[in-house]
Amino acid sequence: MITSTIDPAFTVGQVNSLLFGTFVEHLGRCVYTGIYEPAHPTADADGFRGDVAALVRELGATVVRYPGGNFVSNYRWEDGVGPRDQRPRVLDLAWRSIETNQVGTDDFLAWCNRVGIQPMLAVNLGNRGLAEAVDYLEYVNGTAGTRYADQRVGNGYAKPWDVRLWCLGNEMDGPWQIGHKTPLEYARVAQEVARAYKTFDADLQLVACGSSNTTMPTFGEWERVVLEHCFDDVELISAHAYYEPVGGDEVSFLAASTHMDRFIRDVVATADHVAAMRRSEKRINVSFDEWNVWFAARHGEQEVERTEASEAPELIQDVYNALDAVVVGSLLITLLRNTDRVGVACQAQLVNAIAPILTVEGGTAWRQTIFHPFALTARHARGTVLVLAGDHGRIDTPAYGEVEQVWAVATYDAESGDLAVFAVNRSLTDAASWTVRLGAFGDLRLVEHLTLAEDDRNAVNSEDAPDRVVPHPGVSAVAGSNLEVTLPPASWHCIRLT
Ligand code: AHR
Repeated sequence: MITSTIDPAFTVGQVNSLLFGTFVEHLGRCVYTGIYEPAHPTADADGFRGDVAALVRELGATVVRYPGGNFVSNYRWEDGVGPRDQRPRVLDLAWRSIETNQVGTDDFLAWCNRVGIQPMLAVNLGNRGLAEAVDYLEYVNGTAGTRYADQRVGNGYAKPWDVRLWCLGNEMDGPWQIGHKTPLEYARVAQEVARAYKTFDADLQLVACGSSNTTMPTFGEWERVVLEHCFDDVELISAHAYYEPVGGDEVSFLAASTHMDRFIRDVVATADHVAAMRRSEKRINVSFDEWNVWFAARHGEQEVERTEASEAPELIQDVYNALDAVVVGSLLITLLRNTDRVGVACQAQLVNAIAPILTVEGGTAWRQTIFHPFALTARHARGTVLVLAGDHGRIDTPAYGEVEQVWAVATYDAESGDLAVFAVNRSLTDAASWTVRLGAFGDLRLVEHLTLAEDDRNAVNSEDAPDRVVPHPGVSAVAGSNLEVTLPPASWHCIRLT
């Protein structure tokens, strides 16, 4: 028996809606035959798929990072604007693909407006630098009357796009990155660009590159050096993490949220160390702008080592199973638990490439298993985030040692009186009987309990069976001032009360 208490006083902070971000990179079939396919029966006047747009709205993503990723470090933004028939076909070195540039900045930002999602643009600090980054900002946000802003107006977009969130490069610590840099090399260029951007508009939200993952040899040192240079001019530092059952270790995989939680705390500690050295009250937050389950070992490098580049190749199209969905749910719980220090988070990516949505060219689009915990969390996490007190059971994991069996968080909207509890049973083998004490809320009734838990954890959704894995009613009841819940092994839960 596991017992927890939820109390409206156990507040972490307000639910940050930007935790429910996503990512569109020019990678594989994410853009072409993903969000954009002019010949598709549902395509809108600008060539974007209507069926995909409807699923993106249902997913509830609030912010979208674009155009990369590794892609951005070799990207010329000028190639993707202006009349489509005059845009060049170029070689994308990151994914060894042919980039047709039929989708570029204006097309993407117009799509964001139609879908109702806030854009977060990344600038190329790989094989380009300060001058091109500043030109790009003027093109996107400049008021008519100067060269690049007028170019945008000439391309049919009179109003500045007013993009507020900007990433200063991508994974510049990674040797795989075009224009890979040492911490100091990156810190200097990021500082220059951040200062120029703040001169243009002091209210922009800027993200400096953090580490590509915690196994990078420069992890920790990278963040320190970068923030010592950029502290005054950026608001966020990025973190990226992808999870898979390394060597088949599903026990640790199911507890991957432990890693994400520690990663966030370590980056925050480094950022706060720099603040302390500067006697500064300012707090730099984390932009967890790439996270997901990714079976890199299965796909990864061998796919990109193809010799012949082609348009929209099928790259890293991971098909997610029921267990992956539970892990994704647990990572969302971790982001919510850190709502006070995670400023933005983006699941990577949106369509086809390691994505919650899969499409067939000319055919249907469907929800992968991981779509469901994201959509339900984005829809129901409202108000303040509450941590749970109590003993949440223990399990042993090869990668993280002993960790809590039940990983949970709650959100409470004082105005509506709605309480949402998100929980995962991280044991692969043991069910849990969970008592949640809710006495501090007065009378509550159960509105809905949805769970993702499959006897066959390898079950997936597919073109032929798009709803094989969907949320089902869970087992719980309100008894007096307690909520009594049964958590099957390896299960994710969204329990709503009011
Ligand atoms: O999301 C896929 C890739 O993973 C991104 O392009 C890169 O930034 C990361 O390594």
